[in-house]
Amino acid sequence: GAAELGPYRHYMQKEIFEQPRAIADTLEGVAGIVPELFDGAGVHGEPGAAAWRVFKEIDSVLILACGTSYYSGCVAKYWLEDIAGIPTQVEVASEYRYRTSVPNPRTLVVTISQSGETADTLAALRHAQSLGMQHTLTICNVATSAMVRECKLAYVTRAGVEIGVASTKAFTTQLAGLFLLTLALAQAKGRLTDEQEASHLKAMRHLPVALQAVLALEPQLISWAEDFARMENALFLGRGLHYPIALEGALKLKEISYIHAEAYPAGELKHGPLALVTSAMPVVTVAPNDALLEKLKSNMQEVRARAGVLYVLADADTHIESSEGVHVIRMPEHYGHLSPLLHVVPLQLLAYHTACARGTDVDKPRNLAKSVTVE
Ligand code: G6P
Repeated sequence: GAAELGPYRHYMQKEIFEQPRAIADTLEGVAGIVPELFDGAGVHGEPGAAAWRVFKEIDSVLILACGTSYYSGCVAKYWLEDIAGIPTQVEVASEYRYRTSVPNPRTLVVTISQSGETADTLAALRHAQSLGMQHTLTICNVATSAMVRECKLAYVTRAGVEIGVASTKAFTTQLAGLFLLTLALAQAKGRLTDEQEASHLKAMRHLPVALQAVLALEPQLISWAEDFARMENALFLGRGLHYPIALEGALKLKEISYIHAEAYPAGELKHGPLALVTSAMPVVTVAPNDALLEKLKSNMQEVRARAGVLYVLADADTHIESSEGVHVIRMPEHYGHLSPLLHVVPLQLLAYHTACARGTDVDKPRNLAKSVTVE
């Protein structure tokens, strides 16, 4: 009821603002990267030694999920290949379950699900098992769910109950769990020194503070949302780790504001979507100050040359300034591997405030369900 909402207008807004707490809870008691983290926090009974044996044995990862959970898997692919050196595939559960694929018994099958009850993801898991893939792990927010019961290993995220249909805190806690999984696999493969482990954990522990600073940008996102509320289309661009964040930003916007939004890896702009760019098509650009920034800047010039209006999420140390047709929000700090957990937050706020400005039913958008338990 209204009492639980406190100062917030909707559950979605409350859940966006709970993210620092959710991430802090996720890290509570994590003194180091140990296989026990993946035994389901006691709910499962699979001893940590089993996780360790599995991590030593596997030679690849196959991630299966739907919706927002699928996008967290897409971020994890970049981490797993870069940090752990493990070949990783990510597939939408409803595609995987119905196609002929080539099973590899040494693959770690990772399902990601907020509810742990999504019909397609459960069916995809069972399909993988039927093909002889027995190394299964879930990243899931509900300890008592079918997904946790049916996977050998489990990491239960600590987002707490999520009520808004559009997933927010479940996504960032999935990312935190997937980052821990990446570190554990890197360790099992002999690719993580003690110093690296300590520095990654230090960066993770600072996340709640970093997230608070990002949440403080809300007034600027309210002002962007006034522009977006008048639009019928929007394009989101990102590269590398932030391409899945662009996808998630577009999904959030379409789910709750009903604005048609799509995301592209910025390098693909010239292969199609550039034809759509006019002053009526705002272009959101996720622009962390990483190795790809210079390439992203030239993509932005291509948009400006067609009168497209840019909305740029730039890092503190990025030399991108606001100018005619270029709106810049500066993120408080540059965050390396964990940057996707920060860059997604302004996109959540943008979708939320755009939906509010359009007067939609934010927590219960039309035609959508929180958990899709039938096909
Ligand atoms: C529905 C929800 C989404 C969610 C997806 C997958 O579409 O509206 O927010 O991302 O299902 O759900 P899961 O519980 O498996 O993460």
